[in-house]
Amino acid sequence: MPQPTASPRPLEVPAGHDVVVILDFGGQYTHLIARRVRAQHVFSLVLPADAPAARVRALGPRGIILSGGPASVYDTEAPRFDGGILNLGIPVLGICYGQQLLAQHLGGSVTPAVVREFGQATLRVAGGALFQGLDREETVWMSHGDGVDVLPPGFRAVAATDDCPHAAIEDAGRRLFGIQFHPEVVHTPHGERLLRNFVREVCGCSGDWTPRTMADEHLARLQAQVGTDRVLAAVSGGVDSTVLAALLHQAVPGQVQCLLVDSGLLRAGEVESVRTLFTDLGIPLQVHDASAEFLAALEGVEDPEVKRKRIGHAFIRAFETAVRDLPPFRFLAQGTLYPDVIESSSHGGASKTIKTHHNVGGLPEDLRFELVEPLRDLFKDEVRLLGTELGIGHEALGRHPFPGPGLAVRVLGPVTPARLDLLRQCDTVFIDELRTSGWYDRVWQAFAVLLPVRSVGVMGDGRTYEYVVALRAVDSVDGMTADWSRLPHEVLGRAASRITNRVRGVNRVVYDVSSKPPSTIEWE
Ligand code: XMP
Repeated sequence: MPQPTASPRPLEVPAGHDVVVILDFGGQYTHLIARRVRAQHVFSLVLPADAPAARVRALGPRGIILSGGPASVYDTEAPRFDGGILNLGIPVLGICYGQQLLAQHLGGSVTPAVVREFGQATLRVAGGALFQGLDREETVWMSHGDGVDVLPPGFRAVAATDDCPHAAIEDAGRRLFGIQFHPEVVHTPHGERLLRNFVREVCGCSGDWTPRTMADEHLARLQAQVGTDRVLAAVSGGVDSTVLAALLHQAVPGQVQCLLVDSGLLRAGEVESVRTLFTDLGIPLQVHDASAEFLAALEGVEDPEVKRKRIGHAFIRAFETAVRDLPPFRFLAQGTLYPDVIESSSHGGASKTIKTHHNVGGLPEDLRFELVEPLRDLFKDEVRLLGTELGIGHEALGRHPFPGPGLAVRVLGPVTPARLDLLRQCDTVFIDELRTSGWYDRVWQAFAVLLPVRSVGVMGDGRTYEYVVALRAVDSVDGMTADWSRLPHEVLGRAASRITNRVRGVNRVVYDVSSKPPSTIEWE
């Protein structure tokens, strides 16, 4: 489907719900903090580090979290915050750099740690509001060079590690807290409980951001925005566009038309399974078969960047052609997600966060539609929760991500119908093997890649000279980094022998054991 061009409007905060604001000092885990807070059923919002106190106050947050960040508070370029936010009477939790900034701002001091700590450490807990229900000794994830040396007036240390005497500090009266470790990462096993203590107990958030309220909120907002007009949604069969379509369909039934552009670059049986899914959900779907045009555009092309460009242009042409045959629409719906629009200093502002290399062309410049982006305040895991709430089954919501340019980036070298067909057969076997062995849901993404290489084999008494296929399965949280999945040898062995036995033209299967970085997930 055409790739979204996220609009840089700031996020709308759901009226009447508790909000926690996270100021982003450039930490690699800032998004994770926001997600963990939402996992406590509390709406959270990431703002740039220097967001003015007046802007923060206008959002009416119940709590503020200062994120970590790579800088030292003494760097001249170090990100600062508006100290006025400490006078709003709202509880504040500083994490890592956030703690150091908080301490420095309130009259404490920060120095380079005697021993820099990176990795897991044992925390000895003396008490404090953040540690209710946690053990006296906790494993936490540390990643810091500086540390709070002298506490600001009114603060006391409530937890320490061997190398960090002020690993957690608090001023209970003013409800200001600081922790040197990262509660948001999985390597701090009880970090979620600590964040819960902060947002639910200290800040008093009621936990009103449940999947049901989230669904109701989005349905009501869409109804208000769309009114009685008609909406077009381009869908791909992927999780985001399916949830988008279901949301629209439930918000404004009878006013929605979905469009699937069949590029001829989809997996085996994909178009049919999308048709069945949409029929089951009762959502009108128009399939526009443009596979001949896409294949023609790709003829003779080997360079992956050229492939992406050609596919991008073919998408636009196919989209325009398909739309000409449809009744008029006022709105075009896009499945833009929060990570695409997040306003954060670590990403240089909303407009720079879009993964441009993934925008295979995008939509035509002169769109005659107004955009609706009802998922733009949600993280991927929330989209799945919303989907479940809207009645979409696990099979559709548990699908692996699939790249916009489709199998063209998995057929290395020239893309021809015959090579697409070979790849589809291998891919089908591999995915089937993962499903039957129970591994499909345990990996982030898995697929086969057809290499432009042939090698010698032997079958019966004869010599063969056929293609090599690579299998790729990765574990990841967001696709930005990934590690190769440790699939059992038996699963790989069965997939490999089924492929070489059944797929004519392939005599060798290899498994990709590269992580990202330095590799990418797709081979291209
Ligand atoms: P890479 O290969 O960059 O991929 O490590 C990271 C994740 O993004 C997917 N991907 C895409 N998704 N349009 C998309 O919607 C694209 O053009 C595209 N290219 C890669 C890839 O499958 C992986 O999940």
